[in-house]
Amino acid sequence: MFRDEKGYRPTQQIFTEVPPKYDILNRVLTLNLDEGWRRKAAVRILENNPGRVLDLCCGTADLTMHLGRGAGSSTELYGLDFSHTMLERAREKVAVFGKDRINLIQGDAGNMPFESGFFDSVGISFGFRNLTFENPDAKLHIGEVYRVLKPGGRFVILETSQPANGLIRAGYHFYQKFITSPVGGVLSGNRKAYRYLAYSAINYYSIPEITEVLLKAGFSKVSGEPLLMGATAIVTAVK
Ligand SMILES: C[S@@+](CC[C@H](N)C(=O)[O-])C[C@H]1O[C@@H](n2cnc3c(N)ncnc32)[C@H](O)[C@@H]1O
Repeated sequence: MFRDEKGYRPTQQIFTEVPPKYDILNRVLTLNLDEGWRRKAAVRILENNPGRVLDLCCGTADLTMHLGRGAGSSTELYGLDFSHTMLERAREKVAVFGKDRINLIQGDAGNMPFESGFFDSVGISFGFRNLTFENPDAKLHIGEVYRVLKPGGRFVILETSQPANGLIRAGYHFYQKFITSPVGGVLSGNRKAYRYLAYSAINYYSIPEITEVLLKAGFSKVSGEPLLMGATAIVTAVK
């Protein structure tokens, strides 16, 4: 299990410290591909013409922004995150849609302030790893997503994955270890956060593994779409 130099597991603190340069680092470290992936995930999230949508672990609202642009005006949009600094930045961004268009809420994914069956779609971009990787609350987090979805509702995950080809996988792990971790660490000034992000990406689920986790949690019709030769993936599941 990953521990920082003081022996702690990654915590809320990491995501409270990261925001000032978080967006620009995402663009740099994904070679500017991340926004296209979020746009694609937003299309999947909105595919069932949802009345209510949650961007879970919304961070600085990058996925929420795509949802805001893609959803009809009758769709209610919510974002939830436990980092108040991420949400501050998110509030500045979603202001372009006008007051009250998007509801941003500070809260914990393990205990969401929504009644059961509240959402038609839940999307999560680059947050599922935090909720499940070496996380003792992984089952609780997935169970909460299941609970807040309506029967028939969609869960769409955009997350790092594992390329099926061994050579490409080795190159991807090299990139995480020797580019993401040091470059992210130096540019953000938070080495701990980017060491964790690289370590968790290298050791995270492949599409077949995440499919099994979701099926075990009760989801059905799980399908995975590899992006960038499998370094990232969009996985869709139905309650
Ligand atoms: C890597 S960031 C991704 C942010 C954003 N979705 C994106 O696409 O850039 C992960 C986010 O998950 C949030 N997060 C992690 N664990 C959480 C939890 N248990 N409850 C709520 N938010 C959580 C962090 O605060 C952080 O903003």
